[in-house]
Amino acid sequence: MTDAPATVHLADYQPFTHLVNGVELTFRLAPQATRVLARIRFAPNPARPGVHPLRLDGEGLRLLACSVDGQQVQAALDAKGMTISAADLPPDGFLLETEVEIAPADNTALEGLYMSKGMYCTQCEAEGFRKITYYPDRPDVMARFKVRIESDLPILLSNGNPVAKGKGWAEWDDPWPKPAYLFALVAGELRARSGRFRTFSGRKVDLNIWVRPGDEDRCAYALDALVRSMKWEEEVYGREYDLDVFNIVAVDDFNMGAMENKGLNIFNSRYVLASPETATDDDFARIEAIIAHEYFHNWTGNRITCRDWFQLCLKEGLTVFRDHQFSGDMRSGAVRRIEDVVVLRARQFREDAGPLAHPVRPESFVEINNFYTATVYEKGAEVIGMLKTLVGDDSYKRALDLYFDRHDGDAATIEDWLKVFEDATGRDLAQFKLWYSQAGTPHLKVAEDWADGVYTLTFTQTNPPTPGQPKKAPKVIPINLGLLNPNGDEVLPTTTLEMTKAKQSFRFEGLAARPIPSILRGFSAPVVLDRKAPPEERAFLLAHDTDAFNKWEAGRALAKDVMAEMALKGAPVSRAWLDAVAAVTFDESLDPAFRALCLRLPGEDDMAQTIHALGRVPDPAKIHAARREMSGALAVRLGEGLSQLYKALDDGAPFSPSAAQAGRRALRLAALALLTRRDGGKLAAAAYAAARSMTEEIGALSALLDIREGEAELQAFADRWGKDANVMDKWFALQIAHAEPAEAAALTGRLTARPDFDWKNPNRFRSVIGALAANHAGFHHRSGEGYRMVADWLLQLDPLNPQTAARVSTAFETWPRYDASRRKRAKSELERILDAPNLSGDLREMVERMLAAG
Ligand code: TRP
Ligand code: ZN
Repeated sequence: MTDAPATVHLADYQPFTHLVNGVELTFRLAPQATRVLARIRFAPNPARPGVHPLRLDGEGLRLLACSVDGQQVQAALDAKGMTISAADLPPDGFLLETEVEIAPADNTALEGLYMSKGMYCTQCEAEGFRKITYYPDRPDVMARFKVRIESDLPILLSNGNPVAKGKGWAEWDDPWPKPAYLFALVAGELRARSGRFRTFSGRKVDLNIWVRPGDEDRCAYALDALVRSMKWEEEVYGREYDLDVFNIVAVDDFNMGAMENKGLNIFNSRYVLASPETATDDDFARIEAIIAHEYFHNWTGNRITCRDWFQLCLKEGLTVFRDHQFSGDMRSGAVRRIEDVVVLRARQFREDAGPLAHPVRPESFVEINNFYTATVYEKGAEVIGMLKTLVGDDSYKRALDLYFDRHDGDAATIEDWLKVFEDATGRDLAQFKLWYSQAGTPHLKVAEDWADGVYTLTFTQTNPPTPGQPKKAPKVIPINLGLLNPNGDEVLPTTTLEMTKAKQSFRFEGLAARPIPSILRGFSAPVVLDRKAPPEERAFLLAHDTDAFNKWEAGRALAKDVMAEMALKGAPVSRAWLDAVAAVTFDESLDPAFRALCLRLPGEDDMAQTIHALGRVPDPAKIHAARREMSGALAVRLGEGLSQLYKALDDGAPFSPSAAQAGRRALRLAALALLTRRDGGKLAAAAYAAARSMTEEIGALSALLDIREGEAELQAFADRWGKDANVMDKWFALQIAHAEPAEAAALTGRLTARPDFDWKNPNRFRSVIGALAANHAGFHHRSGEGYRMVADWLLQLDPLNPQTAARVSTAFETWPRYDASRRKRAKSELERILDAPNLSGDLREMVERMLAAG
């Protein structure tokens, strides 16, 4: 049957008709014919009085047997599930037993039970459990699960604690009631890297990271990150782990990053496996963050889950917020904050400004998989950060204690979440709640006045229209402000201004001279600050601001001003900018990681977004040329100092993935990239040959590719790493990222013709097709070749893996920003996708939403 997907509305929520009082599952694993036997105890749900049939979700299942209290019953089956009429159901509760057959080896969607390189694994969030057995597959139905796995494979894992095992079978018992989306099963030929953790109450926990044979020596970092996460959560949130074992499994075929299944986290292998030779410093940081993220879900997600999928940000926003806090504590807080904001702007601001904009808590959806977005995750985390800023650290802690206390074991809502803050602080959060319901990034304008020793800042917020939300009310915006006097001293340390109106003024008295404002310190709210400032003021803040975020932000704003002038008006590279960056680059008192960030130019897509927000039409080719010209000029301006910097930063110390060493490498490689612009690649070729870590290998190779060199090194890289899929993903992505705009699509075409372009593997697909979409000037090349190639591949992937096809389709979400010719080409590709026969509901929803923009 073709999909006739229905829209689900938050307003229609009703509790399920029944409660589940226990689930026993038996799996007889076989690639083409796995049998799943389910024994499920149902009871009437007092929250739904009356007599109800039993409606269970189920997709792609072959039903072999179905009985109620031992009596065979006739269930009515359809493409989405089964219904057992009330007449067949004892009113006071009953045992349902079913047996179904499924074929994990044929499951290319990687949702439900599937196979990856001979290993069985599951992915049930959001609605994958219904592809395993008939069940009320919704997060507010929580139950205890007992699982028996029968298979000849040596390692058989499921949620909870192991209870028994023998030759060819194993049994697991999860004492914590959970929704079906947290169910997991893994079976395979696996090896563990193991550790131990003792919780603060004295519980001993066995930790295992399960990988394929040969990968054992790449688990140490993930294991260490896990132990640090467990300890940090005890210290900072007072929460401890609650089972005897914590298992993590690395899987090569995975649609997303990782999954927090109770006691059995499943990870995309690229976010677990790491050694200095194979992982970059960014990989190490990401692994640390994702290990923490999934572990933290044990409390924010599992012990307290979501009532329905509209509440997704309840667990995701909070868990992202907590993993950001953790990474900030493990590394440089300032550097982490800057990097998080870079990602927020690149993904979430982009989403919020386009046709896919939606509230942090959406009110309707067709396919829930399409709402695992930067808005739900990243903006969801920012909203919690604002709440913490507004109530203060102590109140935040009290509110969180109350949350865990009051809602442990619940399937909760955003209303529940806000209520604990209201109860803990006495604050009315009605207006704050708009952050959850109104889409779009607020813009903040600032006017200054200085008269008679009184300095006045007047802020005006505008909340732009988004799909389905033409008019909006003003939000509560916490604006962290500092004031500096003209000699660079801070005259007002960071103070939180609470803006609640559309337009609002704040007065500062007793100042000797007109101050220079440092607004939105630490990026205290996810807004666009529309403030024109002269280059001297930006340079002043870059030199003097005591807030590391705003110090960086001043340089970034200056770089954007310069790039916009160049792209729009053909202006030359600004001296003021070059001098300001030079001063920071060579300032030995600053953290190298911070200096490396200041050397990084704004991305081209980010620039296009900024130009579009100015009411102008971005030209990708001009932005690309301007950006290259800026780095060329920077290479000249920084001159000989770069060589010295490059040499001085090599201390010869043995490799460590520490933030401090990573920061030095980042600055050193930034220097190398600029030096390479001047020396024809001599130094970079030598650096490649001498590289002792993947960071250095990739850094040197990037520098070479940037100047159209590096053929030999690319070949050497492939010779060395050809058998390592996670490393080869970098090889594919890097070339496409550095391709000349006019050549990006053709290069992608050549790479997709290689036998190792395994397009059914989501990591490989993203590292090639996703990389083309991320090459701004290449994807948006006026020929339309980029659009066409991405559309072709989406159409090819969609029938096999709709979820990943739908995610990658967001490449097109910015199409309305460009000129008429590009818009026409992009739109016709989207229409071509929509015309495809048997298009998945996932991809259809995305394309329809994107086309609705114009
Ligand atoms: N809950 C997971 C996380 O954020 C996300 C996730 C993993 C997911 N796999 C998925 C969501 C598949 C939807 C579909 O950690
Ligand atoms: Zn998550």
